[in-house]
Amino acid sequence: MKITTILSALTAATLVSAGKFHSLKPGKTNILPNAFIIEYEDGIQHHDAHDALKTHKVDYQVRNEYNVFNGASISVNSNHDGHALAEIPGVKNVWHITVYSMPKIEKSKVKPTDPQATSDHIMTGVKDLHEKYKLTGKGVKIGVIDTGIDYKHPAFAAKGATAGCFARFGKNCRVAHGWDFVGDDYTGFNSPVPDSDPMDCYGHGSHVAGIIGGNALDIKVTPKPPQPFVGVAPEVTLGAYRIFGCNGSAGEDVILAAMELAFNDGMDVINMSLGGGSSYKTNPTSVLAEKLIARGMALAGAAGNDGADGVWMVSDTGLGDHATSVASFDNLFVFMNYLTYGGKQFPYNWSDAYGKVISLPASATLVPLLVNGVLSDGCDQGSYAGLDVKGKVVLALGDVTRCKSGGRGALAQSNGAAGIIIQSNDAGIDSLGGVPNLPMASIEFDAGVAMLATWKVSAKSAISWSTAQAPFSIDNSGAPSGFSSFGLDGDLRSKPDLGAPGGNILSTYPLAKGGYAVLSGTSMATPYIAGSHALYMQAKKAKPHGDEIRKVFKNTATISKNYKSKTFTSATKQGAGLVNVLNAVLTTTSITPDHIDLLDSVNFQKTVKITIKNTGKHTETYLLSHVPADALNSYNASNSFPLGTPLIEADYATVKFSQGQVKIAAGKSAQIKLSFQEPKKGKAGQFPIYSGFVVATPKTKNSVAVHVPYTGVKGDIRNVPMMDTDLGFPALQAVNASGALSDVPKDFTFDLTNNKPVVLTRLGSHSPDVTIRIFDADKKFVGFLNSKDAGPGFGSQGRVKNVDDTTGQLVFSQYTWEGQVLASENATLVPTTLNGGTYDIVVASQKKFTKGNYPADFEVFDLGKVTIA
Ligand SMILES: *[C@@H]1O[C@H](CO)[C@@H](O)[C@H](O)[C@H]1NC(C)=O
Ligand SMILES: *[C@@H]1O[C@H](CO)[C@@H](O)[C@H](O)[C@H]1NC(C)=O
Ligand SMILES: *[C@@H]1O[C@H](CO)[C@@H](O)[C@H](O)[C@H]1NC(C)=O
Ligand SMILES: *[C@@H]1O[C@H](CO)[C@@H](O)[C@H](O)[C@H]1NC(C)=O
Ligand SMILES: *[C@@H]1O[C@H](CO)[C@@H](O)[C@H](O)[C@H]1NC(C)=O
Ligand SMILES: *[C@@H]1O[C@H](CO)[C@@H](O)[C@H](O)[C@H]1NC(C)=O
Repeated sequence: MKITTILSALTAATLVSAGKFHSLKPGKTNILPNAFIIEYEDGIQHHDAHDALKTHKVDYQVRNEYNVFNGASISVNSNHDGHALAEIPGVKNVWHITVYSMPKIEKSKVKPTDPQATSDHIMTGVKDLHEKYKLTGKGVKIGVIDTGIDYKHPAFAAKGATAGCFARFGKNCRVAHGWDFVGDDYTGFNSPVPDSDPMDCYGHGSHVAGIIGGNALDIKVTPKPPQPFVGVAPEVTLGAYRIFGCNGSAGEDVILAAMELAFNDGMDVINMSLGGGSSYKTNPTSVLAEKLIARGMALAGAAGNDGADGVWMVSDTGLGDHATSVASFDNLFVFMNYLTYGGKQFPYNWSDAYGKVISLPASATLVPLLVNGVLSDGCDQGSYAGLDVKGKVVLALGDVTRCKSGGRGALAQSNGAAGIIIQSNDAGIDSLGGVPNLPMASIEFDAGVAMLATWKVSAKSAISWSTAQAPFSIDNSGAPSGFSSFGLDGDLRSKPDLGAPGGNILSTYPLAKGGYAVLSGTSMATPYIAGSHALYMQAKKAKPHGDEIRKVFKNTATISKNYKSKTFTSATKQGAGLVNVLNAVLTTTSITPDHIDLLDSVNFQKTVKITIKNTGKHTETYLLSHVPADALNSYNASNSFPLGTPLIEADYATVKFSQGQVKIAAGKSAQIKLSFQEPKKGKAGQFPIYSGFVVATPKTKNSVAVHVPYTGVKGDIRNVPMMDTDLGFPALQAVNASGALSDVPKDFTFDLTNNKPVVLTRLGSHSPDVTIRIFDADKKFVGFLNSKDAGPGFGSQGRVKNVDDTTGQLVFSQYTWEGQVLASENATLVPTTLNGGTYDIVVASQKKFTKGNYPADFEVFDLGKVTIA
């Protein structure tokens, strides 16, 4: 029988070396127990691989078989762990099955009836493509790997679809393909119960699908759209690949299966955002994504919503060399309730505790809390001295350094005020906690200035409070969203790639949940890019590879500024800028590559060549120029963990061009040599990330200019702190049987049952290898710590978030130790248990861009001696 062929295949494979087990990354603790994703060596057939598993006495069930990804996911009943599986000939990679949580739905205060919610197409040129160029995405297929799609929604039964499509999906319908991989009750941890109906019972997938291709411009059925609404590509064909139950998470085994089916169904584009911020591109979905892209499919992944955590946070899904990592921009206008004073309208936000539209009588006039003629913060009773505020609305400055909105509110209430207006003292409108039962409004700083001026003219002016909302171009409209994550990635590559509207976006929602909703997130920006691919493909009557389209989109994006800033936003936040699909379609020029990674001072890429191609019909002359952008300093005070809000600095690099302009014949290319110099300003010891754009502007009037972003780090990247020493990490603690942590008592012996040593780490910047090393009394290395809960003490890691989104608790990793070690990072079968004795524990994180020689290439912390029984 086939024994000989199996053996020859296996022998060939073993020559390559043993496989690699990608152990659990601390911080990513959501894994399925005893279940693995296995990738086989190239050329290994599935049946041979299964024979090999059986030969090695692995007792397992197949969860999924994959094809483009040469491998399978399995549940293991025998004692084999990931290391043991990786040792089996023919196995290339083994991963735990990570369980990804369902994308969070961030509802916006913007209402579906607010015209603003459709202003996104104005910013991106899509409005023109719809109206002037009649582009609709027809003929292009986009797969939505998500919570399903409510295909009964009338916005998915538009032109070209037969009437029967109102209640179903399938051939000739807008949602033409689909599969439910999991069933309603799937949580990510129980067994999926697949069926053929990808109906959405959650909402996220329907919203995403509507952004890509909803069409509610001319539909006369119920529910009527709150306003005419259209997605980016209203005639695109959709595939609904449902990987989430109604409430829960999704295993990566299911995600791989969905990606493969989308590919087999002929989807041209998929987009997904399931990354965890590890910032290294080694997870199975990234591996498969690169294979699918190589076969012609495009992939857009969300950059993530961790903008409040500062640099190095961009999520994994878009990190592949050819994938597109998508940042978010806020919609142009915001619709808000407002007050009218002195004939001018000022938008306000009510406090959380008050929680509703403010309505006060005309008699409730304004009383500014002036102290010596200056508006006070309203934190002290002194602010009220000599003022009659009974039944009036007081105005105070919102400086939170002395007291918060609760303190101001309580004081206003005790003085008998009918309400309080708080002037924000920074850009935009503040979010306020407030106090119950007291109308409290937050207004922009400039609004406060204008109101004071009116009051000085006539203290009796009435404040009138709106019952409805109106459009305002306030805080951040049209600018990069605050929540959108910053790069760079672990290899100092320029990610995210580009941005799209993702803040305050109207789209479809399941009919059972009202039919329409306004949501925010890079989850909303990613499908915008997917839909834009469809318009581009239709315009070009071709289906270029995803990375080719990414280049055009990046070349022609709109380089943007932060709200009210005079300088350009860092490319680490906005990528190449806000997508402009109209310019992408119209341009007759491209620049390759689509990003320039200057790396750090040590590995500085001083000279870089770019190729400009003239794809137009005429010879064109291009002027070359340089647009510097904000530099981001995250280590201002020699802090060991990056600032949540990086300081913006004017550290600009300089660029010299081999020629200032270049003439290129139709269809021809030219190479330009760029000589970069690092910014003179900016302290190398604080590792500012600087960036900018190299621009080629055609001399022909009204032609589209093209550009490429560059990014670099001033300083030696090896010295960027990794462990958060400011907060005392890494640390050694004791953990008792109920999980409580405490300091290790002096001369203590751990019994490894009622008390165990635990190593705590908190990583502030990527490391290719975070190791926990155990040495014996003779200082001899005995192995890497192996933790039953956190896995082996080695492997690449991205930085952690500062605090957990839901619990608000500090994020760190915890490796409980029961005396087990792994002799090396690769070829170990099973952990060994050390004899009782005294050992030394060392936490050593490999510095970026080093070969990994210990200890020279590591940031080393000796945690001291531990005695185990
Ligand atoms: C989802 O499940 C969790 C835990 O079981 C529960 O707290 C939550 O309310 C559920 N959410 C929805 C939308 O059903
Ligand atoms: C209004 O305040 C809420 C919280 O109180 C906040 O989530 C929201 O972003 C604020 N809206 C604006 C437009 O500032
Ligand atoms: C698109 O991306 C969103 C978030 O970025 C994700 O939740 C969804 O699965 C993706 N949809 C498609 C088109 O696959
Ligand atoms: C940055 O450092 C300067 C000088 O030490 C200090 O004045 C400033 O407060 C720091 N800013 C932040 C945000 O840490
Ligand atoms: C663990 O320590 C906590 C806090 O000191 C204590 O409350 C708890 O009883 C201890 N549990 C055990 C099993 O010792
Ligand atoms: C891993 O295996 C390779 C080849 O077998 C060997 O050269 C290397 O030293 C091993 N690495 C470690 C860390 O043990």
